Amino acid sequence: MAGGDSVGARDGLWDRFGAALYDPFLRRGERLGLAGRRAELLRRAHGRVVEIGAGTGLNVRHYPEAAEVVLSEPVPAMYRRLEKRVRGHAGMRPVRAAADALPMADASVDTVVSTLVLCTVPDVDRVLAELVRVLRPGGRLLFCEHVRAEDPKQARKQTRLAGPWAAFAQGCRCDRDTIALVKQRFDIEDLSTARWRGMPSVVHPLVIGTATPTR
Ligand SMILES: C[S@@+](CC[C@H](N)C(=O)[O-])C[C@H]1O[C@@H](n2cnc3c(N)ncnc32)[C@H](O)[C@@H]1O
Repeated sequence: MAGGDSVGARDGLWDRFGAALYDPFLRRGERLGLAGRRAELLRRAHGRVVEIGAGTGLNVRHYPEAAEVVLSEPVPAMYRRLEKRVRGHAGMRPVRAAADALPMADASVDTVVSTLVLCTVPDVDRVLAELVRVLRPGGRLLFCEHVRAEDPKQARKQTRLAGPWAAFAQGCRCDRDTIALVKQRFDIEDLSTARWRGMPSVVHPLVIGTATPTR
């Protein structure tokens, strides 16, 4: 498997447990609004699409019917679920790859999708550099991420709970200022914030938007 970090070798009990619990843990939040936000965002996917950290494939049913999508995911236990979910979906191809080492040529991708992934990758800047590498001129990043809150009280709570949350949620950082990092390599085109209803308060707010590489 391609991958610049060791995430692809992670197949312990905790990883398998996390993968098994992932969909049930998110189910309420999907029903209370996240599924609709995914659908709205993914309507904008066009051309050659690559999704990073596709997990169990919760985005699969939200892509436009004609979309050709490579769904990349490095963690074996998530990948096995992803493979099952894409079966029967023409145009959907799973690949085992980390987001910092995508098996794509330079400037070969029209749309990159990242939903709830930039919180978890060990080195965000390295991933963003990889996304810039694979995107064609005019290509676009579609994202939906939970981020560090601007509200000082909520941000303090995220700082306090970042360690335990990361231990529980497979390395996810609830205190990461993802948009500041994205802005170092991308121009944000549009950005909205929302509450991820049905989920623990440490993962509020969500930011949803699109960005193009700064050339
Ligand atoms: C919170 S889940 C999000 C899954 C899916 N994108 C979704 O919206 O439900 C984070 C995903 O990032 C994956 N991940 C962890 N490290 C990664 C890396 N270095 N590159 C790409 N994906 C990674 C995890 O295995 C997991 O599937």
